[in-house]
Amino acid sequence: MNIDGKAWRTIWLESDGRSVGVIDQTLLPHRFTTRTLCNCDEAAEAISTMVVRGAPLIGVTGAYGLMLALQEDPSDAALQTAFEQLNATRPTAVNLRWALERVRDRLLPLPPEQRPEAAKREAARIADEDVAMCAAIGDHGLAIFQQLAAARPVDRRDEPFNVLTHCNAGWLATVDWGTALAPIYKAHRAGLNIHVWVDETRPRNQGASLTAYELGREGVPHTVIVDNAGGHLMQHGQVDAVIVGTDRTTRRGDVCNKIGTYLKALAAHDNQVPFYVALPASTIDWTLGDGVAEIPIEARSAQEVTQIQGRDSAGMITSVQLTPDGSPGFNPAFDVTPARLVTALITERGVAEASEAGLKGLYADD
Ligand code: MRU
Repeated sequence: MNIDGKAWRTIWLESDGRSVGVIDQTLLPHRFTTRTLCNCDEAAEAISTMVVRGAPLIGVTGAYGLMLALQEDPSDAALQTAFEQLNATRPTAVNLRWALERVRDRLLPLPPEQRPEAAKREAARIADEDVAMCAAIGDHGLAIFQQLAAARPVDRRDEPFNVLTHCNAGWLATVDWGTALAPIYKAHRAGLNIHVWVDETRPRNQGASLTAYELGREGVPHTVIVDNAGGHLMQHGQVDAVIVGTDRTTRRGDVCNKIGTYLKALAAHDNQVPFYVALPASTIDWTLGDGVAEIPIEARSAQEVTQIQGRDSAGMITSVQLTPDGSPGFNPAFDVTPARLVTALITERGVAEASEAGLKGLYADD
């Protein structure tokens, strides 16, 4: 996608052919800087500190992390150590394990000296496939938005088509396009009069900082709202559809996404607002059925709750304390929305009911 007229991906192989470039997402929207990851420790640190984040991008960074590790030591033991180190960085997004297993399984049969190049090729393939999957999600989601917009009462068809989204499931969360934001970009480019309600998404504010940044750079009309405003807007007919991403989707169609997603799904259900979840195949965990009981939920530092980061009047990026001294915080980073609250899953293969039958209908061979 575009930043000041230049097309970017979120991750790339640097010109030395050995190191990996990423956008530092901890400083956005105030400062656009890139970082170079030179070894596996740096890749692991970039994932755990959320320099890179978003389920698909975490997966691709993990794949390149294995490449970086093998450039230093291509042995079986080093491969296993790097796999475990990277896999432990963030526990909820299944794309990480999926990408690490895919690279590891491709490398293990090879002689060690061939592994670094093979890892590079496989990581690049995963990245390219992610772009293609997200673009296809965009096409399927666009068709849904066009149908919903056209189905509104005649006297409302000149109004903007209002979509609400939570967290950041845009191109910054993937390699390009995004999952939930891909249909929004495609709709905007297709000329649909679309407007996006952007949940700020406490505690890390990926909506206010990253989604708003992305939409602004692409010229998509949007408004940032506090997380608690969505239900009110739905009650007053100001949301035509909700669309979010997911970090792990069980085979039954339960979806785990950024904390607060479940409350939006409840509000949408109560107000008959369609609630869509956009995902590539790499986000489906076929081994799990009941998302609430089985998906591991990352607990992040309480400091992310008790403090908030922003830019001060001198232009410095700084953190301030929100809570009284001594008040503890608790920070579960994700929640699970049961399949019954999901109108449909939008995947690269098409649109499915959020159920085992629905997913199997699209992925019979998986
Ligand atoms: O903690 P984050 O910022 O990695 O969480 C990101 C999300 O929850 C996204 O909605 C999710 O990864 C889907 S991404 C396309």
